[in-house]
Amino acid sequence: MSADGSDDDTSRSAAATAELAALREGLSRPLPELDARYFYDDRGSALFEKITELDEYYPTRTEVSILESHAHEIMRDAGARSLVELGSGAGRKIRLLLDAWPSRDDGGRCVMLDVNESFLASSVRALSDRYPRCSFGGVVGDFTKDLARVTAPRPTLTVFFAGTVGNLHPDARERFFSTLAAAMAPGDSFLLGVDLVKDRAKIERAYNDRHGVTADFNKNALRVVNERFGADFDESAFEHRAFYDELEQRIEMRLRAVRECSVSIAAIDWRRSFAVGDEIRTEISCKFTRESISRSLATASLDVRGWHTDPEGLFALAHCWRRA
Ligand code: SAH
Ligand code: AVI
Repeated sequence: MSADGSDDDTSRSAAATAELAALREGLSRPLPELDARYFYDDRGSALFEKITELDEYYPTRTEVSILESHAHEIMRDAGARSLVELGSGAGRKIRLLLDAWPSRDDGGRCVMLDVNESFLASSVRALSDRYPRCSFGGVVGDFTKDLARVTAPRPTLTVFFAGTVGNLHPDARERFFSTLAAAMAPGDSFLLGVDLVKDRAKIERAYNDRHGVTADFNKNALRVVNERFGADFDESAFEHRAFYDELEQRIEMRLRAVRECSVSIAAIDWRRSFAVGDEIRTEISCKFTRESISRSLATASLDVRGWHTDPEGLFALAHCWRRA
């Protein structure tokens, strides 16, 4: 970097330009699409936390129960000197691994990466208070673009909880696995939380809760795009919709226009009229089997050597190493 930081400024402005181009490209598709990261400003992250407490939303409590049963085994198998958590959010699950980690109080380092800066800062603060002998760091970034900005002593255990990997489209998921695998040194490992294929009704209930929290979370994407990019979406013109596509094995969350409206975003020279029933896709949430996620990971030479699941087989943690 040059003394005045101009290389940093250049790369930030290139990233901003790329983000605007991606926003325009997504919204210009026949079925307009917003990237799932636009849910997560402070309100969206708080709404996600509320979702995790809903009766209908089984993934969080199930993943926590798997961690409670297997954290010691995972940390023993990983033999890690550092932990890296991607999409860390409130940073609560990592505590279960920290509690089971012999290096935690003996030179251990733990780095969290998330797009939401204030959630990241408060989770790093809370972890530092709770584990004063461990060193913590935070990287505000995008896990699909900024993995190279995370550095930590080897061997590293990188964790990606919640089934957030399922929010990536298959091509983006495989690019993400390849980038991650290319950065892994011998001995590093990757712990991946995945929501498993199951009864359609149970999955659909999880994304259509009776209190409407998921609906608020979904509509929050419009608020974020209004605030960040000067769009003029009227939240009240759209309703929440979530359905399970059995063929694709994924939930789709959409916003459907309930009245005619027209929306524009001057910053990307985009304008569109919505007729009643027109939809925007705001999220996919892919569900996996052991075979399907192993196949996807194998495209990046990542082998699943540990598979931890709950008695009902609702959710799983896949522990992977890069093939030599
Ligand atoms: N890991 C937490 C939070 C999961 S919610 C848990 O298990 O409960 C998904 C998290 O990923 C949010 O905190 C969100 O801010 C973050 N996120 C979403 N898209 C992201 C992206 N592209 N890059 C980095 N973080 C992202
Ligand atoms: C973060 N991610 C794994 C959640 C999911 O289930 O796909 C986001 C979410 N969307 C609706 N409810 C929760």
